[in-house]
Amino acid sequence: MRLLVTGGAGFIGSAVVRKAVDEGHDVLNVDKLTYAASLTNVAPVSHLPGYRFVQADICDPSAMADAIAQHAPDVILNLAAESHVDRSIDAPDQFIQTNLVGTYTLLEAARKWWVSQGHPDTFRFHHVSTDEVFGTLGATGHFTEDTPYDPRSPYSASKAGSDHLVRAWYETYGLPVLLTNCSNNYGPYHFPEKLIPVIILRALAGEPVPIYGDGSNIRDWLYVEDHAEALLTVAAKGSVGRSYAIGGNNEATNLELAQQICALLDRARPGPQPYANLITFVRDRPGHDARYAIDPSRIRKELGWRPSVTLEQGLSRTVGWFLDNESWWRPLLSRGGVGKRLGSV
Ligand SMILES: NC(=O)c1ccc[n+]([C@@H]2O[C@H](COP(=O)([O-])OP(=O)(O)OC[C@H]3O[C@@H](n4cnc5c(N)ncnc54)[C@H](O)[C@@H]3O)[C@@H](O)[C@H]2O)c1
Repeated sequence: MRLLVTGGAGFIGSAVVRKAVDEGHDVLNVDKLTYAASLTNVAPVSHLPGYRFVQADICDPSAMADAIAQHAPDVILNLAAESHVDRSIDAPDQFIQTNLVGTYTLLEAARKWWVSQGHPDTFRFHHVSTDEVFGTLGATGHFTEDTPYDPRSPYSASKAGSDHLVRAWYETYGLPVLLTNCSNNYGPYHFPEKLIPVIILRALAGEPVPIYGDGSNIRDWLYVEDHAEALLTVAAKGSVGRSYAIGGNNEATNLELAQQICALLDRARPGPQPYANLITFVRDRPGHDARYAIDPSRIRKELGWRPSVTLEQGLSRTVGWFLDNESWWRPLLSRGGVGKRLGSV
């Protein structure tokens, strides 16, 4: 496939780029290179002939038109986004710009190109979204593709709006779209401001490991390489106009997650005291959703995808990767806002 991946220098986008190029697809990575990006994330494949990079903003209509015309993609995979909920609480404007206006701009550029090419029925616009658009769950139940939207943070509201735009471009203009809503990801190259890297890196530094509220919030964790595999599967085999909920069936409270990571670190790099002693409860995030959990039956039954690792296996790989790759994460700690308490209103 000829893939145009936006946000391919970020956490999930780079996993998609690495996997796609490894599998022999032709990839154009289009990324603005915000604070969350690093081209080191794609270094393992950037020398290969199937990889090209363009620095561009998805809010720029002419840059998007040029990128699409030059690459002539079979699939546009839109992962470019502002993705950190805490930053969306402090400064929602960039979330509205990139996640809403950017998705609109890319949809329009894609539609015009698709029309100019005679509506090729092999073309796909695949929008990558989150389970956070569905709001929050109680103690039981799961999100499915039919769960009504109920976003509660500026981040999830901007992603929900972008999903609606994608559906509207399918219903109104017939643009062949695919939509995926995934649960929380973790793994190699995870930007150091997100929960799992924060736990690992604070513990290694011997600093308090901050856990919001009482640590009872539940997330359904998916290893990033399993998500990349799911995205390439949907891009290749998904039904036009259909959405797919993607999750790892790996629910854990934030406190359990921190304890599990601390136990892995105790084994891999024993410190002066058990790392779990560093766990510290801090003031909760406003509007902190209680529980997310995905029922991934559709993608499993219709497309045959399932996660390849359990949370235990994925966390063990992730902790090992962070221990081995200090030269990747150390420079990122000095980027603006990283390591600060954000989004506490
Ligand atoms: N991280 C998760 O757990 C998770 C879960 C489900 C869905 N998602 C979605 O997956 C996508 C990728 O998430 P991530 O965690 O890799 O994010 P990330 O923040 O790590 O990476 C985002 C990338 O997009 C780029 N970008 C931002 N604004 C841009 C713009 N205007 N134009 C071009 N590029 C721009 C950044 O430079 C960065 O490389 C997002 O759409 C996010 O909503 C994330």
